[in-house]
Amino acid sequence: MKIAIIGTGYVGLVSGACLASKGHDVVCVDVDPAKVAHINDRKPPIYEIGLQELLDEVVPARLTATTDLKKAVQGADISLIAVGTPFDGDLIDLKYIRAAARQIGEALKDHDAYHVVIVKSTVVPGTTEDVVLPILEEASGKKAGRDFGVGMNPEFLKEGEAIDDFMYPDRIVLGGIDARTTAVMAKIYDVFPDVDVIHTLPRTAEMIKYTANSLLATLISFSNEIGNLSATVGVDVVEVMRGVHLDKRFTPIRKDGERVVPGFISYLAAGCGFGGSCFPKDVKALIAHGAGKGAKMDLLKSVIAVNAAQPNRMIEMLTARHPNLKGLKVAVLGMAFKPGTDDIRESPSLPVTQVLIDGGAVIKAFDPIARHEAEKVFPSGVEFVDALEDTVAGADAILIMTAWPEFRALPALLAKTGSKAYVVDGRRMLPKDSVSAYAGIGLKIAEPA
Ligand SMILES: NC(=O)c1ccc[n+]([C@@H]2O[C@H](COP(=O)([O-])OP(=O)(O)OC[C@H]3O[C@@H](n4cnc5c(N)ncnc54)[C@H](O)[C@@H]3O)[C@@H](O)[C@H]2O)c1
Repeated sequence: MKIAIIGTGYVGLVSGACLASKGHDVVCVDVDPAKVAHINDRKPPIYEIGLQELLDEVVPARLTATTDLKKAVQGADISLIAVGTPFDGDLIDLKYIRAAARQIGEALKDHDAYHVVIVKSTVVPGTTEDVVLPILEEASGKKAGRDFGVGMNPEFLKEGEAIDDFMYPDRIVLGGIDARTTAVMAKIYDVFPDVDVIHTLPRTAEMIKYTANSLLATLISFSNEIGNLSATVGVDVVEVMRGVHLDKRFTPIRKDGERVVPGFISYLAAGCGFGGSCFPKDVKALIAHGAGKGAKMDLLKSVIAVNAAQPNRMIEMLTARHPNLKGLKVAVLGMAFKPGTDDIRESPSLPVTQVLIDGGAVIKAFDPIARHEAEKVFPSGVEFVDALEDTVAGADAILIMTAWPEFRALPALLAKTGSKAYVVDGRRMLPKDSVSAYAGIGLKIAEPA
């Protein structure tokens, strides 16, 4: 099939590269000419494992990029909208969705063939039918259902594992306004046989995506609340959660005695908070949307409140040992919101680093991938370093903000150099007795030896 993808970020580019690799003809559209040039040069504008290899495989034979939306849409059977849907502080901000819908509608005005427009961006329930569809009709002068189809197909990929997630989907949700739309949508995914497919209404498809993200965010904030309480009552949250995980309703025991460990277990662990481009904004958007419809949304409001306070636990643990930040040498390990990505949007590292800057700390920071993004946020006040060893050399305190696997080398490194730096583990990734001075989320702060 010929597919135009509008918006070439994490979702648009990964979807485009994977669908091209599966045999579709894809044109990726973006308003950012630099991104378009990068893609046509086979240079991934974002970091994602396997993306380079995919671009080498599909560009230019089955994937090209352009800023010319009209030409791309007119040359395609289907347009996928994958533009950003930020939270504007009060509500979901649909300005990019509206602009993309209007431009697609205008392209369809003098395009005779039946075309299907699919919303892949995460949008609150009702958006596809109540916002996108009317804009398409108005801009094209045509009738949805008769002249073109409209559908909603949420994306579930996770940054850091995006290509694997897209290539081996766990479910495909297709919400079409009618059977003809859904049939065309289904044809895109014929290349993924044997996957569970849900055929549903657009607003149900929209709701599935928010429900999935809100549940995962809830598990994290629940774990963080238990972690904070554990620290207060003097128990270790890692042991507490291990005892909870072993409930066979969570980790069933197979006949051969092996435990099945479902993926959601990794969300039942305390840390310095969730970030990224999805959970924070999606939960806030759902709260606002629900409140606008008269729903109280108390649980999800608490999920956000717990998360907003969580990065400050790192500062509390740091200042318990070093009350005065001025001149304190602090190494910040990790800027990305999670390992495997260069995405720093809403990363807990950002507010923590800002507090350190404001307090006058002397900061060195290291992230294996996200340095270029972090430097844009902190053009001064932080010395970015390219190796773990150099970052922690001479540090009074070390904050682990992202669970990059390479940080597991820290105890051996500190032992080698004789460093007695105070390690504050925001991801509980080091054994607590592996360094001479340790503090961690969900653990009572120890008195200095
Ligand atoms: N990032 C994820 O892990 C993820 C996972 C699932 C769903 N989503 C959802 O997918 C959507 C996209 O997320 P993302 O992280 O890929 O966003 P992103 O910010 O990385 O990319 C969006 C792209 O759209 C482009 N754009 C904006 N308006 C445009 C227009 N009119 N025409 C062409 N291009 C335009 C921007 O230049 C940008 O490159 C969001 O709704 C997000 O919630 C994201």
